Amino acid sequence: MVQASELRGAIPNEMLETLEQRGIKSLTPPQEMALKRGLLKGSNIVVASPTASGKTFIAEMAIANCVIRNRKKAVYVAPMRALVSEKYEEFKEAYPFMKIAISIGDLDSLDPWLSGYDIVFASTEKFDSLIRHGLNWLGEVGCIIIDEVHMLDDPGRGPTLEILITKLRRLCRSAQIVALSATIGNAKEIAEWLGAELVESDYRPVRLEKGVVFGGKAYFLDREDDLEGASSIPEIRIVQDTLSRGKQILIFYGTKRNAEASAERLSQTVNDALSRAERLRLSELSEVILHALSHPTAQCEKLSKLVAKGVAFHHSGLVNAQRHAIESAFRSGLLKAVCSTTTLGYGVNLPAHTVLIRDTSRYSEGMGSEKLSVNEVTQLLGRAGRPKYDTEGRGLLIAKARSEIMDIYERYINADLEPISSKLGVQPILRMHVLAFIAARMLKTKEGILAFLRETLYGYQFANTRELEVILGNVLSELESWRFIERKGSLYEPTRMGQRVSELYIDPLSAKWLIETLPKVTDELGYLFTVCNTLEMRPHVRATEEAFELLPGYDYLLEGSVISYDVDEPEKSLSTALALRDWADEKPERDIVKNYGTTPGTLFAKLNNADWMLYASTELAKLMHLGVSKLLELRIRTKYGVKKELLDLIRLEQVGRVRARLMYSNGIRRVADLRLPGSAEKVQRLFGKEVAKRIMEQL
Ligand SMILES: Nc1ncnc2c1ncn2[C@@H]1O[C@H](COP(=O)(O)OP(=O)(O)OP(=O)(O)O)[C@@H](O)[C@H]1O
Ligand SMILES: [Mg+2]
Repeated sequence: MVQASELRGAIPNEMLETLEQRGIKSLTPPQEMALKRGLLKGSNIVVASPTASGKTFIAEMAIANCVIRNRKKAVYVAPMRALVSEKYEEFKEAYPFMKIAISIGDLDSLDPWLSGYDIVFASTEKFDSLIRHGLNWLGEVGCIIIDEVHMLDDPGRGPTLEILITKLRRLCRSAQIVALSATIGNAKEIAEWLGAELVESDYRPVRLEKGVVFGGKAYFLDREDDLEGASSIPEIRIVQDTLSRGKQILIFYGTKRNAEASAERLSQTVNDALSRAERLRLSELSEVILHALSHPTAQCEKLSKLVAKGVAFHHSGLVNAQRHAIESAFRSGLLKAVCSTTTLGYGVNLPAHTVLIRDTSRYSEGMGSEKLSVNEVTQLLGRAGRPKYDTEGRGLLIAKARSEIMDIYERYINADLEPISSKLGVQPILRMHVLAFIAARMLKTKEGILAFLRETLYGYQFANTRELEVILGNVLSELESWRFIERKGSLYEPTRMGQRVSELYIDPLSAKWLIETLPKVTDELGYLFTVCNTLEMRPHVRATEEAFELLPGYDYLLEGSVISYDVDEPEKSLSTALALRDWADEKPERDIVKNYGTTPGTLFAKLNNADWMLYASTELAKLMHLGVSKLLELRIRTKYGVKKELLDLIRLEQVGRVRARLMYSNGIRRVADLRLPGSAEKVQRLFGKEVAKRIMEQL
């Protein structure tokens, strides 16, 4: 084994010094192998090695070598924003001497400030959008890390990743590519596609035992373990067993509802195992969770009660502050059990000694119910036994009958990883990227685009050029008939509108709908409906009675719509619009989530998308010379959730929808009113000294 001290001279000194305090004494085999294959000499490398085998550190060595030695920039890209932020935080702490930036937000900005940084952490979509906006420092990039590269296989996020990788290979010809994953069945093929050396290993630093639970026992390859505890419900029994070892557990479920119901079921068991001191700290955390929003929703109350008992649920319905609080309390050992959907499934380091996959199917709006793949199960179980926290780990699945034990074993544990295959070759996905090529004037002819597509994984795996040519032909004529591109001889050029649509990073089909519909809209709800009826706003909340009643009034907007719908889909998109209207009318979150059968996390995610689509609509409306004052006002109102009369007060920092309303009803109706005699006292009486001071300072 290569000792860390032997790395002197091989990796930059600044980096060597940080190793000891991070507990890295010797290299793991994949790390060693990556060095042998030319990691520090600029070779492209694909690393296919198990979860927790230290792939991040391979990326770190490449980055440090690139930035410190070669004085070039490095880029870290991953498809999940949460993972990008986590890695960014880790790097900032480990390498205070490097200039590190993160870019995961606004898709219509060039972020020119990024050019001053050594390392840029970005989500796939954001980096793709930076390129569309003509980012000018690609020539300085010396190293590109692609983390969780198996996401190429994901129908939702894979194609953009694939296009991005292919673009980067063309635009930064001399840059090194390092792609990482624990779950690639066809690593050799992926390495060949990338012109990369392959580092393949089955090393895992911490033993992760995988088994199947039935009755009171866990069945492993070589033995059976009796589980501590008395419960006859398998999940509870496994929790009892894990707690009796003084360890923590992470449990995965197929739906949000299942995760919540289980957390409830487990709470008594976990509560019984808590110390007095822990209960005290948990009750503080419980308060924080409860007050994450101005008025607690039913979900906030439920989560807060559970947290007081040492258990939490975790899914996309939580708001960010709650998610972070829960992750950090689990990391510090305070929360003993977390019941999660797959939101905690990829790349993260958590102190879960035991991971249990309770459901082997996953349900998502839009995709329906799907069986988990071997790759996914491997990722989820791989959250157990992380070297930073544990010396061993346990990954379990549940059998419902004795006869199922072997089946599950063969299906998931003793099984080969699935190969990664491209999901690029469908028309709706290609239309967005083809427009982007032409809009950025990167590719101008059909032949040029075809040549590019042949360089993608799709082209590499399914080299049927005929088929590709047909799809591309369709996409081009569609974009041409929508007037986003124009043909001059054999050259394609973007129209002004096409250019803007590409920069706004919206689906050309949504853009077409907006362009046709916006000029017809006459009222506020009509605007919200128009915005909500785009592909970006799917999936929708449930259709309320009000939506069914009001929809006929908007039939005139839907006439000749280019978008195709499922049953009741227009009602649902109108319903989403109504939820946004309620928010902008200052209805409390609590009532909105209840009325539309949704969760705070989902509501805020929708608000975020709506903000984006309202912005895009305003930009498109400007190009069409339509009046935009209504849209602008609506955007601010939906952003802050306020009626028109609060628009002035909401400009103040520290003042959100609730405080603004309080000020207003106490006679402070505009920022200027703060100067009136007695206002300062009033504000202090309403919000306390500290907040009042921060508000008055802004005058
Ligand atoms: N050589 C080493 N010695 C000791 N610990 C290490 C070493 N390399 C990495 N680690 C630690 O191992 C843990 C897991 O590493 P990392 O997050 O890179 O896993 P990974 O291979 O990316 O797994 P995943 O596929 O789950 O993302 C981290 O806490 C890291 O600090
Ligand atoms: Mg990783």
